[in-house]
Amino acid sequence: MWHFRLWDVQDVAVFLSIALYMCHLAGAISIHSPQRSLTRSVQEDVFFSVDVNCSGIHTIQWTFMSGVVSRTIGTWQPGGFTNITVDYSSRVQPHDNGSMGLSDLRLQDGGYYVITVTDATGNSKDAGHVLKVNEVLYEDLQYLSVSALALACIAGLLMLAMWLLDKVYRRIVAWRRRKQMPENDATELQPL
Ligand SMILES: *[C@@H]1O[C@H](CO)[C@@H](O)[C@H](O)[C@H]1NC(C)=O
Ligand SMILES: *[C@@H]1O[C@H](CO)[C@@H](O)[C@H](O)[C@H]1NC(C)=O
Repeated sequence: MWHFRLWDVQDVAVFLSIALYMCHLAGAISIHSPQRSLTRSVQEDVFFSVDVNCSGIHTIQWTFMSGVVSRTIGTWQPGGFTNITVDYSSRVQPHDNGSMGLSDLRLQDGGYYVITVTDATGNSKDAGHVLKVNEVLYEDLQYLSVSALALACIAGLLMLAMWLLDKVYRRIVAWRRRKQMPENDATELQPL
């Protein structure tokens, strides 16, 4: 009887430790992000794609860092509350898997974006992403179109000037011919 009971207790202990180990594994947070470094241009959108694996209730927080600046973009719980900072509220789209979309990029958006996942017991893990924002395209295009227009105008003026000069030259030649006509032979008046 005692012997049997002792085994029972041992079994339960082993079972409990296995169960605890499994719980610990399940509680481990994993953050998978296929792309950690992104480059976009001003006014474009960016999508920080991540896939958070964490059992139970957990909180996702995104933080922006650049130089000495560090500010919270938003905090949300999958299937629960969503709290996006006022400055970002119109540009940020939160997703349950932890992903975050940020639209209408500005030059100042370039920097580090850190996602922090905190589980119900307070354990947390984070992953950083780098975003580079280029200003080029728009201004370059504007500059190009302005210079193309200026070149076209100059070309047009040159063509007009050449046409006018040609006309004047022909007139002068015709006038000279007419002046010389009486002294010339009839053979020289043949059309060229
Ligand atoms: C996360 O979810 C979004 C929206 O449902 C999806 O577009 C994105 O691909 C997901 N990310 C990953 C890494 O699975
Ligand atoms: C939302 O987040 C801001 C800053 O991150 C915080 O000050 C505010 O208390 C939060 N609001 C709620 C309802 O949790």
